[in-house]
Amino acid sequence: SQVREYNWTIVDIVANPDGVFRPMISINGQFPGPLIECNEGDTLVIEVDNQSVNATSLHFHGIFQNGTNFMDGTSGITQCPIAPKRKFRYEFTVTGQSGTYYYHGHQAAQASDGLYGPVVVHSRDEKKLQQISYATDRVVMLQDHYHDLSSGLLVSALEPGSESSPIPDGALINGLNQRDCSALPHRMCDNSTAALPTFDLAANANHRLRFINVGAFAWFQVSVDEHQFAITEVDGTDTVPAYESSLMISPAQRYSMILNTNQTTADSFWLRARMVTHCWKESQLPGGGANEVKAIIQYTSSGHARSSTTIAPQPTSTNTNPEFAVQCKDMDTTRYVPVSHEPAPAVADHSYYLRSNLEIGDWRLERGFFNQSTFRPNLQLPTLHRTVEGLRKRNESFTSMSDSDGVNAVAYDLKNDFVIQHTGVKVVDLIIQNFDEGNHPMHLHGHKFWVLGQGHGMFPGYESIGLRAEGQGVLEDNQGGLDNLTRRDVATAEGFGWLALRFVADNPGVWAFHCHMAWHSEAGLVMQFLSRVDEVATWEIPEANLQLCDAGLEELEKGA
Ligand code: C2O
Repeated sequence: SQVREYNWTIVDIVANPDGVFRPMISINGQFPGPLIECNEGDTLVIEVDNQSVNATSLHFHGIFQNGTNFMDGTSGITQCPIAPKRKFRYEFTVTGQSGTYYYHGHQAAQASDGLYGPVVVHSRDEKKLQQISYATDRVVMLQDHYHDLSSGLLVSALEPGSESSPIPDGALINGLNQRDCSALPHRMCDNSTAALPTFDLAANANHRLRFINVGAFAWFQVSVDEHQFAITEVDGTDTVPAYESSLMISPAQRYSMILNTNQTTADSFWLRARMVTHCWKESQLPGGGANEVKAIIQYTSSGHARSSTTIAPQPTSTNTNPEFAVQCKDMDTTRYVPVSHEPAPAVADHSYYLRSNLEIGDWRLERGFFNQSTFRPNLQLPTLHRTVEGLRKRNESFTSMSDSDGVNAVAYDLKNDFVIQHTGVKVVDLIIQNFDEGNHPMHLHGHKFWVLGQGHGMFPGYESIGLRAEGQGVLEDNQGGLDNLTRRDVATAEGFGWLALRFVADNPGVWAFHCHMAWHSEAGLVMQFLSRVDEVATWEIPEANLQLCDAGLEELEKGA
């Protein structure tokens, strides 16, 4: 294992990823941000120098941060934002995981302004865990794209009675697309530098494409003309190859696809990523067919394109399902069986029922709710800081709860700060019942969870999903149904549907659990788990973290 150091300056730039110029937030002037590629066991040191006008923070999505909760990068939860002109050093060791991840801004919706990039963690056992060997390994980032800054979009998204999220202006693959500027006459547009991404792949070989949906809101349906492919990884869990002709991917999910370049009908094929527009409102489509973004899969032989120039693939009969047949829900994860067998614990210590909804909250604004609670981050005094201090000083509000598990409405104001806490290592079930017509891809920081089940309608009860209820919320495996479920870190509660998750709360600290649609988490669809209270009570807040907080509220709120 080794230490890998990165020096990143956050800078505001103007760029035209699809032709249209817009302000963006970048790392070292680069969009998308640089790739982090490391081995399991490596220590990453990322020196962030914030030269943006916005306060910011960086979250390494899916990285466990075991013992380094202070490095999780969630503004208002584990840290104060990095105010403009300030620096912060993220330092953590990547252990117990490998696969495909990413990093993104975790202050407001800054990821949609460009603040993101891929993280690839290699494992010593990668060859064994990936059951199909492959010649190349590429990252494919999909993103809904907006021609305006997220701060403005957010204002309208939260407007009273707005009832809908901002509609993307288009989409990008690895930060690229090529829009027809004449269709956008009122915009500043120059598409001569924009391009369709091209993947040069040797013919007659297997290639690993790591898909990451880095977008704010849109689901993508992915397909490659004339090809089937194998899915071999789900959010960092290596899975037994399962063959598909199309892939649905929600915001923040990752899937690895093995593509075999074995077709003889042509030398290049379209990779299509289509935003599934009926996941929002059918009437609000981005103009000019912009809901589909394409890349070129170009077959090469011995490193050269088989044709002398890259020729755009001809339209072919696609194997894409008609959009109306597509539903805004996760791929059936029971199809993706982990290669390394890690059964879920048979018994849960606690089961929590969470109602999720978007409704009108205070000041008649659109808000996202878990039960009665809508999250408002305290940027000056993050949850972790309040918790560590409270536990250390043995403040009564913290100590009165410190030996018991459950919702802590004593130390935290339940209205805006929904914290569930556990002492010691506990097995926790979450049943999310979604009362919203839209879907919510839920992400848990610091852990992977087992997907016990998900579906439409009301949660049918544990018995119906093969589990037995034992007394008060204690549950037991009935039929070996827990044997080898997929472990992942984003799973979706579909519109008017349910999602049942199980995880081991063994990672000390405060971990966000939220809808990963940027407009929804910003509306407050966020709650928190305080795990290993016993351990957190022994912590002290690192000096560098305390220093971030003395910036003054006005500075901390910039770009939030
Ligand atoms: Cu990918 Cu809370 O984030």
